[in-house]
Amino acid sequence: MKKKVFITGASSGIGEFLAYAYAKKGYFIGLAARREDKLVQVASKCFELGGEAKCYSLDVTNSESCKNDIEDFISLPGDVDTVYANAGVGAPDQLSTGDSSAMNKILLINIIGVTNTVLPFIPYFKANKRGKIAVISSIASFRGLAHHSAYSGSKAAVRNFCQGWNNALHKYNISFSAICPGFVSSEMTDNQKNPQPFKISTSIAVDKIIRAVEKRKKVFIFPWQAKIFIMPMIKWAPNWLARLLKI
Ligand SMILES: NC(=O)c1ccc[n+]([C@@H]2O[C@H](COP(=O)([O-])OP(=O)(O)OC[C@H]3O[C@@H](n4cnc5c(N)ncnc54)[C@H](OP(=O)(O)O)[C@@H]3O)[C@@H](O)[C@H]2O)c1
Repeated sequence: MKKKVFITGASSGIGEFLAYAYAKKGYFIGLAARREDKLVQVASKCFELGGEAKCYSLDVTNSESCKNDIEDFISLPGDVDTVYANAGVGAPDQLSTGDSSAMNKILLINIIGVTNTVLPFIPYFKANKRGKIAVISSIASFRGLAHHSAYSGSKAAVRNFCQGWNNALHKYNISFSAICPGFVSSEMTDNQKNPQPFKISTSIAVDKIIRAVEKRKKVFIFPWQAKIFIMPMIKWAPNWLARLLKI
């Protein structure tokens, strides 16, 4: 039976390259994001690479449209093998404005967007007694970052969800992988001027992500340089050092 994979945030960056990697394996791919024109371009490249694809122009903060589109995707011929809750945004907290809207937008997309993507698949995976779900967290999830705490907090929340969901659904052979990248080339990072040590290309990143998800790794921190040098510093640096390093 044809294998299917559902990817949110498939219009650019990590999600786009995940789609190409699965297209090369002959998968049917559900491509979800807001920018329909970009999704159509990604879909046509997926066909060229040997896969098939259907575009779902959706906003992950809209639970109704996520549920409807996921029901449609499940109903298509084939077996859903893996789901990627990848859509996400990052921006400063804008604490000094006194306005919570910037932070709330990030929390909504990065947290509620994940539950809206993952939960509609659970009854299906439970009935099938198998399924792999990957949630894209971040190495930033290991500390409340000074001016990006909505981002780091949202990524900590979804990593935490994965731990709980793994234990809740272990007996149904459903695995959750919290993927914690360091810096990966994408629309999110390529225009930023801040230092991005050990940054890797999008295609290398998705190869590593897919291998980890296939192995059902519960938490996957990569690349190895970020795991060894950046993650412990982010996690354990005393606050005076964090202020000095502006993290
Ligand atoms: N790149 C890195 O270094 C890095 C590191 C750690 C974690 N991450 C995480 O990796 C994930 C992918 O990011 P990326 O680096 O590939 O950045 P990107 O190129 O900016 O991709 C973000 C994707 O999310 C989609 N998206 C944003 N808001 C959405 C919404 N409300 N509804 C549906 N889709 C939405 C965007 O599509 P539309 O705009 O078309 O909706 C886009 O496809 C994110 O969760 C990010 O936090 C990235």
